[in-house]
Amino acid sequence: MSREILPADGMSERMRARWLEVQSERLRPQLPEDYARSEAEQQLHASAAERARSRELDAFKTSVPVVGADMVFRGEHRHTAALGSVAEWLGPQPGAVPETGLVLRGSVGTGKSIALAFACLHYPGGFAWLRPDDLVSAVLHSYDESAPRLAPLVVVDDIGRETKSTFQEALCALLDDPARTLLASTNLTKAGMRARYDGRLLDRLCARCIAFDVPGESLRQRVGDF
Ligand SMILES: Nc1ncnc2c1ncn2[C@@H]1O[C@H](COP(=O)(O)OP(=O)(O)O)[C@@H](O)[C@H]1O
Ligand SMILES: [Mg+2]
Repeated sequence: MSREILPADGMSERMRARWLEVQSERLRPQLPEDYARSEAEQQLHASAAERARSRELDAFKTSVPVVGADMVFRGEHRHTAALGSVAEWLGPQPGAVPETGLVLRGSVGTGKSIALAFACLHYPGGFAWLRPDDLVSAVLHSYDESAPRLAPLVVVDDIGRETKSTFQEALCALLDDPARTLLASTNLTKAGMRARYDGRLLDRLCARCIAFDVPGESLRQRVGDF
């Protein structure tokens, strides 16, 4: 069967000549060095993509300082209740911004921080990952150049571990800011939060965040007996 592709009728001479030129280039037998070159080029592209991916991973691990951030980045995590609640909160539409905040409550090792890392990876706007005492600096000492910066999504990992007395004031101010969304985790139960925090903060949390109680026991692998 002929491999020749005929030009269409009615083409101008110039178009016809160009057509034939393109076709003859297209039908030129591929030489072994062509394959070699394209393989080498492919390898170059692949390693450039790998390097870019590895830089992205480094940046992610720096902005999400939690054990297991790399597992989340590579998509190697398992489904957990905490992850399910975050996925539901993010919604089925990629790029949609959740309307409320979310607080994950649960005992140690139930996958709360991993779920927060997953949220950071998929949240469509910028995020700031803060420990509770960092939140105080970011909100109340923002004039200080070394204070951490806020972002549209403010992730506070481990509420209840704060040592600064102004934590509640900082969290209230954050919740009063409509430009910020809070995503947080805590080992405190609902009753524990009610005992620890005052009405001003609890009222704002109720208005701006949904709470999810993460069930289950620690998912951490055990190598010792303590
Ligand atoms: N989705 C997950 N897939 C696989 N391992 C997980 C997952 N979530 C948690 N883990 C394991 O459990 C450990 C504790 O999870 P983490 O999110 O830090 O718990 P928490 O913040 O609730 O104390 C992680 O370091 C990891 O080993
Ligand atoms: Mg944690």
